[in-house]
Amino acid sequence: MQQEITFFQRDVLKEKPDTASLGFGKYYSDYMFVMDYHVENGWHDPRIIPYAPLTLDPAAMVFHYGQAIFEGLKAYKSADGTIQLFRPEKNMKRLNDSCDRLCIPQIDESFLLSAIKQLIFTEKDWIPDGEGTSLYIRPFIFSTEPYLGVRPANQYKLLVILSPSGAYYGDQLSPVKIYVEEQYVRAVIGGVGHVKTSGNYAASMKAQEKAEANGFAQILWLDAKENKYVEEVGSMNIFFKINGEVVTPKLNGSILPGVTRDSVIELLKYWNIPVHEAKISIEEIFAAHERGELEVFGAGTAAVISPVGELNWNERSITINDNKIGQLSQRIYEEITGIQIGKKADPFNWTV
Ligand code: COI
Repeated sequence: MQQEITFFQRDVLKEKPDTASLGFGKYYSDYMFVMDYHVENGWHDPRIIPYAPLTLDPAAMVFHYGQAIFEGLKAYKSADGTIQLFRPEKNMKRLNDSCDRLCIPQIDESFLLSAIKQLIFTEKDWIPDGEGTSLYIRPFIFSTEPYLGVRPANQYKLLVILSPSGAYYGDQLSPVKIYVEEQYVRAVIGGVGHVKTSGNYAASMKAQEKAEANGFAQILWLDAKENKYVEEVGSMNIFFKINGEVVTPKLNGSILPGVTRDSVIELLKYWNIPVHEAKISIEEIFAAHERGELEVFGAGTAAVISPVGELNWNERSITINDNKIGQLSQRIYEEITGIQIGKKADPFNWTV
């Protein structure tokens, strides 16, 4: 059922930040989209309202039992001023997959996408157009019912906020140092690692803090059962180029199915570069490095394509590709961002 979206105008618009100072996720636009759910009348009251703090009951179930999910996608401004989204229907579908796993009521995917388009159109002046910049779109849903018994809530809020952003890690394309974590795990098969729930990120912070204190940008997570097979980085999926072929961990129920991950796989197939989704051990990666054949990069919406310059595992450290951007990482970055900003042809019909 398509519902009318109400618009509430704000009196004074905010000052927009300098493109150079953007970083990631620091600034928010003038408006946000909000919709409520009640078990008695479903999702209702869609509205675009001034960006502002929320008032919530201290007993709202999200604070106690963590039913909270989110998505991340981006809007880009092309040279001719067209606004483009990249495969947004995949984010809508994944949001519903997350809803399903967390017992949150399903949303109407095409309605939410049209609401996001309306919000972005309202906020088009917030889309930065500098190199490597975009308007990051963060849809999220959480339980609001005031109740302390443990069960799925009967009331929720869905919001979409917008954040003009640049590179996620310092400089885009400067290789990152990654610590391979053995003490903590991110997700287990049968758990929630394959969906985008806030708890996954909360659970990752202890290890992230330890890694950062030791000079690493991110964690590479291993499987929870054998502590042996590579999973993902948390803010991105991971790819290895070994001996002319590319391999990425196969989706196994504890890895997030990234939209950029899927796009990289499609692109490599299109270029006739062999690509495999497989179970791959950290030992194999270190062995490949010893043979001198390794290139590593991460892929994610926020991270885009992020070359990995160093991996540290079990007190062994390897420098990858002389800590320089690998040729393949560079080529994929240029192609994907080229498609996203309308600079390159889009044979896949990814842009909207
Ligand atoms: C994204 O790439 O959009 C993410 O959600 C990763 C991270 C910023 C949490």
